[in-house]
Amino acid sequence: MRARNKQRKHNKWSLHAIVWSLVGCVLILHLYSLVHHRDGVGEDGKVHFSPFPMIHELEEIEEELFPMPSARSKRNPRAEKRRPKRHTTLIEEFLDENSQIRHLFFPDQKSVIDPRIGTGNDSLYFYPGRIWLDTDGNPIQAHGGGILYVERTRTYYWYGENKDGPTYHAHDQAPARVDIVGVSCYSSKDLWTWKNEGIVLAGEETDLNHDLHKLNVLERPKVIYNDYTRKYVMWMHVDDANYTKASTGIAVSDYPTGPFEYLYSKRPHGFESRDMTIFKDDTGIAYIIYSSEDNSELHIGPLTDDYLDVTRVMRRILIGQHREAPALFKCQGTYYMITSGCTGWAPNEALAHAADSMMGPWETMGNPCLGGNKIFRQTTFFAQSTYVVPLAGFPGSYLFMADRWNPANLSNSRYIWLPLIVGGAVDEPLEYNFGFPLWDRVSIYWHKRWRLPDRWWAAQ
Ligand code: DGJ
Repeated sequence: MRARNKQRKHNKWSLHAIVWSLVGCVLILHLYSLVHHRDGVGEDGKVHFSPFPMIHELEEIEEELFPMPSARSKRNPRAEKRRPKRHTTLIEEFLDENSQIRHLFFPDQKSVIDPRIGTGNDSLYFYPGRIWLDTDGNPIQAHGGGILYVERTRTYYWYGENKDGPTYHAHDQAPARVDIVGVSCYSSKDLWTWKNEGIVLAGEETDLNHDLHKLNVLERPKVIYNDYTRKYVMWMHVDDANYTKASTGIAVSDYPTGPFEYLYSKRPHGFESRDMTIFKDDTGIAYIIYSSEDNSELHIGPLTDDYLDVTRVMRRILIGQHREAPALFKCQGTYYMITSGCTGWAPNEALAHAADSMMGPWETMGNPCLGGNKIFRQTTFFAQSTYVVPLAGFPGSYLFMADRWNPANLSNSRYIWLPLIVGGAVDEPLEYNFGFPLWDRVSIYWHKRWRLPDRWWAAQ
């Protein structure tokens, strides 16, 4: 009897010991993550937590002062007469083509990035927002674009909207537009020096019934390669000037540099489709992701094996969140997506989302933008996401591509390319599960001037 009691007491204590050890472990891990987090942001404002020392310089938090013009000096007298409105926010100032601080958002010709100059101090440096010339000395026209890497030739191809034409409004209520010129393609070995490969899918001049008739809309073209058919497949948003057609167009080519043959347009899964992208997984399965139901949600679904159509499978994600401009990437088995809000050509706050499976569920993590200043972070550095390029050989490191739209002169819109890093310390609690972040942090770091790490260049 006494022995049985002793045994029971012993079991009870063992159970207690196990429970308390577990609680202890959870607390220690939690404390560790807090200390780790606090240590992560030093007094100098630098975050040093990604496990890859060679990219630490990209993870520096670079602050930037952005002056609001004083009421007196704000506008020149002629502009004052034209539009007497005083701006109270930097976004209004940004959208005002007569703003006295316009050069801060749209630096002029004097500061162009010119790869033909080659060896100067600025060689290989990205300057987000500056005019960027191709190897012929012309400003690059590849807006709302994406990049395809062809491993065999070690070449990057940048496809985007050629907006080289006058900006106008089709009618009073219509958003600013440029007639369709077509999809441009540029090639590069180093992501910095871009050779113009021409217009690989041209707008249609005469046939009014053609999807790509110049008075319609062609936005956000993306190209992926199909390993079975050996075709380069382009998907894009096609629309009418009022954005009521809300469809996707598909084109195909034997070569990355085109010409692409336009096949047809459709509403994927029978739903409206506006901002969109496609993503080729390392399994070879490709997916389309598009804003639908009046841009209130995103739809996601696999493409057919030849990438020329959607299958019947579709999931609604981020329902009611009103997101657009999706840009997807995968890091160590987790899928990530950056999106923007829906405010036309005006900039707004980016959000990062993550999922264990492409088909969801997708969770929203928060604003990934770091550095610059508060308004920079609230406006995605006055830009809108378009694509994320993996940096081969640098796990967790990516190139974030965004468009700084210029609604007064869309052809003069700029490119904001910045490092995007997955991992490192979270700077504020995002989604927590018993005190632990569910996902790695996604950070997009502001830099006025930056370049890819030396080791990346060496590997090219
Ligand atoms: C925001 C979208 O992201 C752009 O691609 C473009 O469609 C504009 N809206 C038009 O206002």
